Amino acid sequence: MVEKSQRRMNATTAGNRAWFAAHRQRIEVLLRKNPRGARLCVLGAGNCNDLDLPELAGHFGEIHLVDLDATATRNATRPLGLANLIVHASTWGMPRPTDAAITHAIQLAEPGEAAFMDGGLVSECRKPRQDTSATNDSMTPFTLRDLAGTFDVVLSPCVLSQLLVSAREALGHQHPRYPQLRRAIQLGHARLITRLLRPGGRGVMLVDAVSSERAERLAQLGSGEERQALAEWIEQGLHFPGLEPATIARVVSEAAPGAAVELDTDRPWVWRLGERKAFVVYACQWTRQNAQAIVHHA
Ligand SMILES: C[S@@+](CC[C@H](N)C(=O)[O-])C[C@H]1O[C@@H](n2cnc3c(N)ncnc32)[C@H](O)[C@@H]1O
Repeated sequence: MVEKSQRRMNATTAGNRAWFAAHRQRIEVLLRKNPRGARLCVLGAGNCNDLDLPELAGHFGEIHLVDLDATATRNATRPLGLANLIVHASTWGMPRPTDAAITHAIQLAEPGEAAFMDGGLVSECRKPRQDTSATNDSMTPFTLRDLAGTFDVVLSPCVLSQLLVSAREALGHQHPRYPQLRRAIQLGHARLITRLLRPGGRGVMLVDAVSSERAERLAQLGSGEERQALAEWIEQGLHFPGLEPATIARVVSEAAPGAAVELDTDRPWVWRLGERKAFVVYACQWTRQNAQAIVHHA
C-alpha cells in the first residue's frame, strides 16, 4: 500500500524535473561541501529530480541511490551511463503498518540503535523482490546494514515526511498509538542516517515542513520571504506535525546522544514540485564522531 502510493507519486512527478531547479541547486551546494572522491548515499533517490547526477558523479567517488521504487531511480540513471552510480532497492520505515508491526516499531525505537540496522521494522531493510519490469544490470541485492559506517555523506531529501504520511494514512492521526509511532519513525530515520555514516561523516536531512496545501501563500512566496514565512506558519500550526525544527533537533540529539543540534532555519527555501504544489524546506546537518554524532554547523 505504502509502496504503491510512493510509486504512483514518483510516476506523477517524473516529468517535473524543470520545476525542481532551485531545490536541486540548494542540494548541490550542501553536498559539494564534501571533498572530491567522497562516498555519498541518498535515501529516497526516486526520480533523482532533486539531484544533478552528472555533476555529483564528477565530484563524488561513489554514489549509492536507495529507494523502494528502484525502477524510477533506474529510469533516471540509466540514460546517463555513469559508472559510479549504484542503485539499490530497499525499504525502511513502515512499509506495512499492521498492529504487530507498529508494536514492534515502537519497541525497537526505544532501547538502542542496533535494532535499526538489524532488519527491525522501523528501518527495515530487505532484499528487493524480483523486479520483472525491466532488465536490471546495476541493482545490487543488499541490506542497508551491509553499508553501515561507509559513507562520507548521507542525504535524506524530504523523505521523513513521506514516512510519516504513510504511517498517518494507514493508521489515522487520531489513533492512540500514532504519536508513539511517529516518534519511532522520526528516531529510526535519524539513527539510520547516522549508522550509515563513517566516523566524521555528515548527515544531511532535508525537511519539507510546510506544504502549499495548508499555507496557500506559499505558491506565490517571493525570494527572501522564506525565513519569516516558515517561522510564522510553524507558529500558526500550519506545518506538518512532527517536522517542526524543535522536534527534529530533539530527535537528532536522541539519535546522536550528547550532540548539539544546529538547524539551518535561517535559510529555508521553496521546493516547487509542479504548477500547484510547493513546500518550504530546511536542512539539518550533523557529523558522526566515533560512536556518536554531533550536529554540523552550516
Ligand atoms: C520526497 S521523494 C524524494 C524525491 C526524489 N529524490 C526525487 O527527486 O524524485 C521520497 C522518495 O522516498 C521514497 N520512499 C518513501 N518511503 C520509503 C520507504 N519507506 N523506503 C524506501 N523509500 C521510500 C519514495 O519512493 C520517493 O522516491
